[in-house]
Amino acid sequence: DASDEARSRRPQAGDQFAVVSGDGPVKLIKPDDIKLNAQQILVWPYDPEKKIPLNGSRLNQLLLIRLDPTILSDTEKPRAADGIVAYSAVCTHAGCDVAAWMPKEQLLLCPCHGSEYDPKDGGKAVFGPAPRSLASVPLKISDGVLAAAGGFIGRVGIAPMT
Ligand code: FES
Repeated sequence: DASDEARSRRPQAGDQFAVVSGDGPVKLIKPDDIKLNAQQILVWPYDPEKKIPLNGSRLNQLLLIRLDPTILSDTEKPRAADGIVAYSAVCTHAGCDVAAWMPKEQLLLCPCHGSEYDPKDGGKAVFGPAPRSLASVPLKISDGVLAAAGGFIGRVGIAPMT
């Protein structure tokens, strides 16, 4: 129906981010919720006008993580807000959640088959079977609100079989 459609559109500039637990309350994410070098949190884009999370499509699931802004690559720097970066949480190998964090190496890890991605450098796939980078979402913080500065950069989801 229309509400499913509204919840399935891809993220765009101005969207905020939310954690949704089942049918429970929607919790909007504030910049302070994301701690430096802590494990990524899995979130959904949130439409602030319609006041709905965009969780109608699994491909909209994102991860947020905060890194030291000085270690971000030149590609990543302009996409970050106070060191916070956002990526698709859908592993490009077979679509598992990229849910684990390797704090020492500062790499995102997909627990299914061990693919590793570098959040400091455009979500580049650096180890394991993942064939390409995670798509990223540029961020901004205005009036203390964390929001997308644009839509996905790069392809979301798994690579087509060849
Ligand atoms: Fe992530 Fe295979 S689905 S490594």
